[in-house]
Amino acid sequence: MANQDDKFKRVISHAKEYGYVFQSSEIYDGLSAVYDYAQNGVELKKNIRDYWWRAMVQMNDNIVGLDAAIFMHPTTWKASGHVDAFNDPLIDNKDSKKRYRADVLVEDYCLKIEAKIEKEVKKAHKRFGEAFDKAEFLSTNPRVLGYQEKIDSILSRLGKSLENEDLVDVKTLIEELGIADPLTGSKNWTDVKQFNLMFGTKLGASAESAMDLHLRPETAQGIFVNFLNVQKTGRMKLPFGIAQTGKAFRNEIVARQFIFRMREFEQMEMQFFIKPGTQGEWFKHWKATRMKWHLSLGLGDDNYRFHDHDKLAHYADAATDIEFKFPFGFKELEGIHSRTDFDLKAHEEHSGKKLQYFDHEENKSYTPYVLETSIGLDRMFLAIFSNSLVEEELDNNTTRTVLRLPAVLAPFKAAVLPLVKKDGLPEVAKQIVEDLKWDFNVAYDEKDAVGRRYRRQDANGTPFCITVDHEGLEDNTVTIRHRDTMEQKRVKIKDLREIIKKEVDVRSWLMKI
Ligand code: GAP
Repeated sequence: MANQDDKFKRVISHAKEYGYVFQSSEIYDGLSAVYDYAQNGVELKKNIRDYWWRAMVQMNDNIVGLDAAIFMHPTTWKASGHVDAFNDPLIDNKDSKKRYRADVLVEDYCLKIEAKIEKEVKKAHKRFGEAFDKAEFLSTNPRVLGYQEKIDSILSRLGKSLENEDLVDVKTLIEELGIADPLTGSKNWTDVKQFNLMFGTKLGASAESAMDLHLRPETAQGIFVNFLNVQKTGRMKLPFGIAQTGKAFRNEIVARQFIFRMREFEQMEMQFFIKPGTQGEWFKHWKATRMKWHLSLGLGDDNYRFHDHDKLAHYADAATDIEFKFPFGFKELEGIHSRTDFDLKAHEEHSGKKLQYFDHEENKSYTPYVLETSIGLDRMFLAIFSNSLVEEELDNNTTRTVLRLPAVLAPFKAAVLPLVKKDGLPEVAKQIVEDLKWDFNVAYDEKDAVGRRYRRQDANGTPFCITVDHEGLEDNTVTIRHRDTMEQKRVKIKDLREIIKKEVDVRSWLMKI
């Protein structure tokens, strides 16, 4: 655990030191769970968004984009269920005065049991060596089975209590498990209460005529209310999708874990409208397709898993999370929900407008069902950034910090470095930057010894360093150094564009999906 904490602290400080993420309004001591993306962060974030957009919109001729407003008519949130049911169960500790999400306290307790299972696996792996069969061990070892049974029974009871709004039982569960305030160890808890997560604001100039609004807590509703507009103007036939990226706002009770849980964040959502009855096959399709998208980035197949929901949201008939192994354990990264016709029907009811699709083949109108994929852009950023940051032991007994970002997403694709600041080398280096910047983000760096500049670019995640030296002045060559292998090759200046393109071109990455 201490190790995980250390790793996570390193991630946060590296993100600040290298211009990726800053605390919002830092000079005023910051604003809790609100962050700003700095000069490198904004590039990485844009590249992740683009990678998602290309995979979802550009590569699918039956998916189109949308950019709906953040402000929506207040009835939207009544229809969607957010006014009545977008609550989290909160609990306060009377001694420390700290506030927690009751369900997260229980889930964290289960994570500790899960850590015990992982410990048993590691021990057994050491004992049995090569012959170790993890799957068999997990399904037969009595101690592991006991731990798993305990986790299952706790989570199933939590799920039932939340579903039945039995908040008294949630508190009883916390007390029975002996869960203490993680900061102080106190077990002096208040009752569990529900807390609505939407932020309120006002539209209008005068106090009397102002209208109460909410900042949208998800982008999805902008898609639902525009369903018929897009379907008609785009002459879309089922099945088809509408994709959108944009800000969402939630007044999270517990804002911890850096950009994992924020109060202002960005979502990338896609609603796929389908014929009722086909949701089972589309659910499978999008589960597989979204997982392939994740795996294409090469962060390690073992770092992902599905978590199928037992407890379903009020709108869903099936749901799964794609979980990622963050520095603090496996947590939700993306949700895939079969939302039935809940949203379109609810908006029909509340608006009095028909939101139906006329099926020419069947010669009838009906309300489509919806399959949703929803991923947090900031969470994806954290997954990539934390996974990429490594301390590497080198052969000469030194270490280097390297940010092994997938090359397609790296903020800068190359840095051009004159070996020394004289003899015409800076001029050649600057000319290379001028030529390459039509195609890629390229940095120029002439400060410090070249070894230190390499380390700086490694830590910044730049896949290539191009060094201009005296030898190259003679024959129009440079050396190109690869961030991950540290291998250097002498190449012709005129070939640089193709060499870089080969590794960073989005096409070759998307082809893995
Ligand atoms: N339209 C469905 C929906 O909003 P959700 O599971 O509440 O579903 C979808 O959110 C995704 O949005 C999550 O998987 C997560 O990646 C991201 N997300 C949700 N709340 C977040 C927060 N407070 N901070 C950062 N990302 C968040």
